[in-house]
Amino acid sequence: MTIRTATLNGVITLEIARPEKKNALTQAMYQAMADAIDAAQADAAVRAILITGQPGIFTSGNDIEDFMQRPPQSEDSAVFRFMKALVGSDKPVVAAVTGAAVGIGTTLLLHCDFVYVSDEARLAMPFVGLGLVPEFASSLLVPQLMGGRRAAEKLLLGDPFTGSDAVECGIANAVLPAGEVVNHARRVAERFNGLPPGAVRDSKRLMRGPQRELILKTITEEAQLFGQRLRSPEAMEAFQAFFQKRQPDFSKFA
Ligand code: COA
Repeated sequence: MTIRTATLNGVITLEIARPEKKNALTQAMYQAMADAIDAAQADAAVRAILITGQPGIFTSGNDIEDFMQRPPQSEDSAVFRFMKALVGSDKPVVAAVTGAAVGIGTTLLLHCDFVYVSDEARLAMPFVGLGLVPEFASSLLVPQLMGGRRAAEKLLLGDPFTGSDAVECGIANAVLPAGEVVNHARRVAERFNGLPPGAVRDSKRLMRGPQRELILKTITEEAQLFGQRLRSPEAMEAFQAFFQKRQPDFSKFA
């Protein structure tokens, strides 16, 4: 298992722990995270959820081998279960971004309530360069957060950005020294032990309420195109280039 879960002081921690593959997420890992979020939702003793990675790496996003060999077939697949569980979580979710956060490593942050980023972190949403389209409602939420101009740099060009940029454009709360980010995020999560859970739940529903349906609808619309694009020759060229450690060549595509 490459997702470690542990509950301590009212906080369940979901630790992505596959450092040899830069914490790339497989279907089994999405499944484990979805199960943990669902269990937290039903457990009155859990007051908040903390998502974290390993020193230097939060996650390199979806496992590209999985994209090629086991692409998600329907909205019942594990990645969509994970997306829906995170969007639907009534418990506060805090992310400690311990390093690089690529693809869904960045887009999942859009659905967390608090995001703390290590000063070594680099974020990126390189979907287009992989022959894909944005996912996890990022096509909706990124332009909303930072405006169309900056969203185009991050979603169409796939430009990487720093933790400070993430704070400035509304994705993150604060940048912290690498050695402090997890402890700080944990302290924020533990503050919910001292707050009334019913008021937290109702307030989170009110804050997210008007957007939640639109977010789920956007996830579905993106998924249809994403699924088609995963099978496209453009995506195959990008994936093969990644494993062959070369630049992709899109010059032959119209
Ligand atoms: N899927 C599958 N394997 C991955 C992976 C991914 N998303 N990200 C990294 N790996 C693997 C590499 O293939 C390599 O495996 P190997 O040791 O068997 O060759 C190993 O993890 C180490 O990766 P490497 O690229 O050498 O590490 P790095 O420190 O130079 O770079 C990243 C780290 C995260 C910047 C880089 O790995 C990266 O860009 N990964 C892909 C990100 C991506 O495009 N994700 C999909 C978004 S939709």
